[in-house]
Amino acid sequence: MTLKDLYKKVAKCEKCPLYKGRTNAVPGEGSETAEIMFIGEGPGKDEDLQGRPFVGAAGKFLTAMIEGIGLKREDVYIANVVKCRPPNNRDPEQKEIDTCWGYLEEQINIIKPKIIVTLGRHSMGRFMQGLKISQVHGSPKRASGIWQKRQVYLPLYHPAAALYDPRQRDVHMADFKKIPLILKKIKEGNDS
Ligand code: URA
Ligand code: SF4
Repeated sequence: MTLKDLYKKVAKCEKCPLYKGRTNAVPGEGSETAEIMFIGEGPGKDEDLQGRPFVGAAGKFLTAMIEGIGLKREDVYIANVVKCRPPNNRDPEQKEIDTCWGYLEEQINIIKPKIIVTLGRHSMGRFMQGLKISQVHGSPKRASGIWQKRQVYLPLYHPAAALYDPRQRDVHMADFKKIPLILKKIKEGNDS
């Protein structure tokens, strides 16, 4: 299975009711060999129209932060826990997330990221249970992974939460800037 094969499957998927409201499915995009994978919640209006993840207002902020640590969007991989837009941007339901999960699992197995950055509590909650984002944001965690037993995760607030709140923005940027050092430590086998 390649990412392209997966994109074709997602484009035709009717496994959960979210397919009914989509203009385009938004499977994800980026490098097949990315070391960093960002995982958000689900497509919004702009994403649904363009078929690309994080291209609206929250996406512009995310892109600026990625560039702020010296990377481009093409260097990383960006995906969501659900690939089709929930109506009126409501939260994805647990059942929808579970139904869509196989696609994300395949993406992770293909890409084999060194670090998974979860954006928002819905994404965090699918990988690690029982955590409060207000307590753990910006702290890397090792937990069971898809392609390796001990995966490094970095839980971050969702960038949309920071859009209109300058204080949140500072918190978000400070958390984000930890990514290069965490990655360096993982590569040195020194991340505990
Ligand atoms: N919010 C998300 O969680 N994902 C997107 O792709 C866009 C906005
Ligand atoms: Fe299929 Fe996922 Fe879209 Fe539901 S959200 S229709 S499971 S691709």
